[in-house]
Amino acid sequence: MKYVSVAIDGPSGAGKSTLARKAAAILGYLYVDTGAIYRTVALSAVRGGIDPADAQALVPTLEQLDIRLEYGEDGLQHMYLNGEDVSEAIRVHEISQHASTVSAIPAVRAFLLELQRDLARKNNVIMDGRDIGTVVLPQAQVKIFLTASPESRAHRRYLELQQRGQDTQFETVLRDIIKRDEQDTNRPIAPLRQAQDAVLLDTTRLNLEQSLQAILDIIRERV
Ligand code: DC
Repeated sequence: MKYVSVAIDGPSGAGKSTLARKAAAILGYLYVDTGAIYRTVALSAVRGGIDPADAQALVPTLEQLDIRLEYGEDGLQHMYLNGEDVSEAIRVHEISQHASTVSAIPAVRAFLLELQRDLARKNNVIMDGRDIGTVVLPQAQVKIFLTASPESRAHRRYLELQQRGQDTQFETVLRDIIKRDEQDTNRPIAPLRQAQDAVLLDTTRLNLEQSLQAILDIIRERV
């Protein structure tokens, strides 16, 4: 492999995206948020009046789907759906659940696989998701499985939604996190699972700086 790939997998709200983004900025790697891609497919379904669970209706629309991933001047990943920047629209609470639903459809995963692998073929990447170390980039030089207790993940997600001005109850966020864990872990295709050669990092008792340091240490030891 010409470029370095770092795979970070784990359940929702473990801090993957914040930590991966910061680590990538420090190391000069491209940060790829693969959850955003599934979220864009979910948004496309909802906007098209398709039930995200209805594979038969959704799969034929994939070929016409114009999904692009671009990096703005701010260095951040932006998602484009049919030419429109949907980076904010995919962050609303209901899309999280729909993204988990569409991600269980095998044809959706197959459709998005090359898009993700192509980025790793052309860049040093830190890619986060659920199946990066197990399916998308099994040859990644560094694999990290990032987790934390459901309560601490729900707490972080809750604060994040509040900061975005979205009014949600903590209990709702916790319930949804548990439901998504269950869905993402138990689906038959590419379930959320720690790769055998991944390093487990539990951030329940670590703050952001400590978690970031732990990630950088793991990467620097291996690259
Ligand atoms: O990381 P996130 O919460 O933005 O991801 C949204 C959903 O997308 C998540 O519930 C499961 C799915 N997903 C996936 O199946 N595989 C990935 N590599 C990334 C996300």
